[in-house]
Amino acid sequence: MRLSRYFLPILKEAPREAEIVSHKLMLRAGMIRQQSAGIYSWLPLGLKVLDKIGDIVREEQNRAGAQEVLMPTIQSADLWRESGRYDAYGKEMLRITDRHEREMLYGPTNEEMITEIFRSYVRSYRDLPLNLYHIQWKFRDEVRPRFGVMRGREFLMKDAYSFDVDQERARHAYNRMFVAYLRTYARMGLKAIPMRADTGPIGGDMSHEFIILASTGESQVYCTQDLLDMPVPGVDTDFDADLTPIVESFTSQYAATEEKHDEAAFAALPEDKRVTARGIEVGHIFYFGTKYSEPMGAKVAGPDGVERPVHMGSYGVGVSRLVAGIIEASHDAAGIIWPDAVAPFDVGLINLKAGDANTDAACAGLYAALTAAGKDVLYDDVDTRAGAKFATMDLIGLPWQLIVGPKGLADGTVELKRRATGERQVLSREAALALLTAKAN
Ligand SMILES: Nc1ncnc2c1ncn2[C@@H]1O[C@H](COP(=O)(O)OP(=O)(O)O)[C@@H](O)[C@H]1O
Ligand SMILES: [Mg+2]
Repeated sequence: MRLSRYFLPILKEAPREAEIVSHKLMLRAGMIRQQSAGIYSWLPLGLKVLDKIGDIVREEQNRAGAQEVLMPTIQSADLWRESGRYDAYGKEMLRITDRHEREMLYGPTNEEMITEIFRSYVRSYRDLPLNLYHIQWKFRDEVRPRFGVMRGREFLMKDAYSFDVDQERARHAYNRMFVAYLRTYARMGLKAIPMRADTGPIGGDMSHEFIILASTGESQVYCTQDLLDMPVPGVDTDFDADLTPIVESFTSQYAATEEKHDEAAFAALPEDKRVTARGIEVGHIFYFGTKYSEPMGAKVAGPDGVERPVHMGSYGVGVSRLVAGIIEASHDAAGIIWPDAVAPFDVGLINLKAGDANTDAACAGLYAALTAAGKDVLYDDVDTRAGAKFATMDLIGLPWQLIVGPKGLADGTVELKRRATGERQVLSREAALALLTAKAN
């Protein structure tokens, strides 16, 4: 993509309403545009990152055995009356009336709808386990939408729903999602720690929030340093095997949000291991048993022929929140530092003398070679000052900058800068290409 043709509305200064660094940087880098309080348009650069995050989530859900569906954003109020949540949900639900005076709503979540789908088709334990997910926009009329896409009113969520014949098998479904989540966040360059969370009236231990540490986080969290250093399960993990040992290697260590914090247990940790921090909730997994299947009549016959309400869990990932969360975890004074796996482009190619035939030709050759090798390149072909070019590239945070100017070309060299470390190397064109295309990702 040529920068001269790319819709990248960079702002010199962050609008005053932006309070936290990710919101400021997303506005300055032209990633999003606020349309109403807590409602955003995604501009080209922002959408690319959003899609990459969605793709990683999707791959790891599929790997863990979940199947993708797509449910609508608009739901019928009657469905929610069946579970009793239509009145209980309160003002966070955006209620709509259609032309026939039918009551509708913009879905804040999909437990009711997925339960309706399930009960329409599935009758027997033989069709289980089942886990269905979608990546869809939600609307929650938050009292205080803030921090940009971090706490929006309209936001993109991955929500999965598992169905099992009993609680024991539901635990296996839960463990699969637990492991899938560890892998998902790690692939985005994040350390997300599973922390015990409220289970409500269900009780038990099957509710975890996945939290990344950041000073601007909305929750107060406590954990042991050891969890921050834990390696995550590999790509070869067998999701049909018993995942209890993996899950317990995490859950046996101390990590809790404010509501679940146990001061005595925390104090028992060695002092140098105690981490007290702010955290951002980027995911939440939850077993809720027959809470919806019972009132909504979603039953399956067991091997004994007796019909019983199906056991369910739900598993959310804040896809749009993650864009901001990753920036909170990875930036410096000059701008965003995208981890390779979610970067909107792999390489920023900077032409220091646009219009100079020799430099233009060298850039065109590098652009073609990188593109042919499968790299996504943003080519700054605009005739502006070098300082402004560097500032823009640092702001938008592409992993690599390949800098090409007449001076270097006279010596047969180009410059390669790694955004994360600031490290610069002067190389031949061939060496630069070899280095960029050899990268595993
Ligand atoms: N208002 C919001 N804006 C952006 N992301 C959100 C918002 N509310 C929830 N999320 C994301 O969706 C995930 C699943 O939501 P859920 O646990 O149902 O929300 P909550 O914790 O607010 O009850 C959360 O972990 C979070 O990452
Ligand atoms: Mg939650």
